[in-house]
Amino acid sequence: MKERDIFRRTRKNIIVVSVGIVMAALLIYAMITAQLYKRHVFKDVDQQILMQRNQIIHAPNLIKYRGERMVEVMIPAPVTFNLLSFVWLDDKLVGKSPHDYLGDNLYPDFTGYTVDEIFTLEDGEYIYRAIQFTKQGLKIQLLINVNSEIASVKALEKSLGISFLILIVIALILASYLAVSVLNPLKILYNKQLAFIQDSSHEMRTPLAVIKGRLELLVRHKNDKVEEHYEEISIIMKELWGLEKLNSDLLLMSKEDMGMKLEITSFSLNEFISEIGEFYTDFAEIQDKQFNVNLLEEDIEVSWDKSKMKRCIVILIENALKYTGSGDEITINVFKKDKMIKIEVADTGVGIKEEDQERIFDRFFRSSEARASGKEGSGIGLSLLKSIAYGLDVKIDLRSVYGEGAKFTLTMSKQLKNS
Ligand SMILES: Nc1ncnc2c1ncn2[C@@H]1O[C@H](COP(=O)(O)OP(=O)(O)OP(=O)(O)O)[C@@H](O)[C@H]1O
Ligand SMILES: [Mg+2]
Repeated sequence: MKERDIFRRTRKNIIVVSVGIVMAALLIYAMITAQLYKRHVFKDVDQQILMQRNQIIHAPNLIKYRGERMVEVMIPAPVTFNLLSFVWLDDKLVGKSPHDYLGDNLYPDFTGYTVDEIFTLEDGEYIYRAIQFTKQGLKIQLLINVNSEIASVKALEKSLGISFLILIVIALILASYLAVSVLNPLKILYNKQLAFIQDSSHEMRTPLAVIKGRLELLVRHKNDKVEEHYEEISIIMKELWGLEKLNSDLLLMSKEDMGMKLEITSFSLNEFISEIGEFYTDFAEIQDKQFNVNLLEEDIEVSWDKSKMKRCIVILIENALKYTGSGDEITINVFKKDKMIKIEVADTGVGIKEEDQERIFDRFFRSSEARASGKEGSGIGLSLLKSIAYGLDVKIDLRSVYGEGAKFTLTMSKQLKNS
């Protein structure tokens, strides 16, 4: 339940944050676009108004007098047909542009607006860009209707709004997809870790129970001599030894999973294999098993992480010793092909059932026969081998016929690179 909550909350956060970022970016984009468009649309209109104003300002004389009487106000011809001009003298209209489409007495009200600066004037349903200024005691008003420009700005704002909504929906879908694809591998990993911890503690339960039981027995007979309980003590020691091995295997595996650095050195391959072989030949002899080592005819130098490679081979040899009986045979073969080396560990033991062959590399997996046989182990060996092999770029192959034996092959380059 908790596990689900963690991922649900994280998924929600990823979606909210990514949609929020997209939303903010789109909003800024829409605002800048609308602003730039508005400025561009009004630029031409404003230029025409300024041109007309300049013509009026620079005209030598606007008023024609006859004697003392003002006869006419002469305004330069409009630079564009839709430019309106009104000239006032003491609140009386004394001149206007020829194309006054507003009709009589329907002049826009300029009161309250700035002087000598272009502004947007709203007059009922009409909107203008306009300017007012004075010359020779005359108040001059220039304006151009911008209703169609405003309509196009509104249309742009509307389409920006619609595309904003569509893009947010798309962003929401993509963010949900992103959240799922980012979180799913983590969820799998999280569940694996959880299962790993549960399996580890489960594996420790049995030996701990055995140790506890035997110790309780010893405590109850505290006056007895040690040798009288030799069997209990040796069982305790065996279980402790198993726990110690499990602990060091788990630690090693977690280190491998973290991707520890390799320590690559160059050494002779035949010497390396025969050293390992010699150590186990005695073991095999004690168990009445034959141990063969077939080295390369011509020795070569390899550049490997020696201790890790040794660990891989030892895991296979220990399994071969564990899952064979007296009279069986264990063979190590070394081959070289071009730059590749193959190391085989083959045995004539119990073999592995077809359906178990994939699963034996899973953590804590032991075949039912292995569990029933009473042979010590916790099913960590081969999964540790898989983790180490991954880090060393070593390929593992398995061939086995149930009842006839098993053959594990490690294939790797003779020169490992430290990546
Ligand atoms: N050479 C082999 N012959 C037959 N079965 C094998 C051989 N090697 C491995 N197996 C099977 O694969 C299982 C997993 O092996 P692995 O080495 O991971 O665990 P283990 O030997 O049971 O315990 P551990 O290695 O942790 O002490 C074994 O329990 C056994 O069933
Ligand atoms: Mg093993």
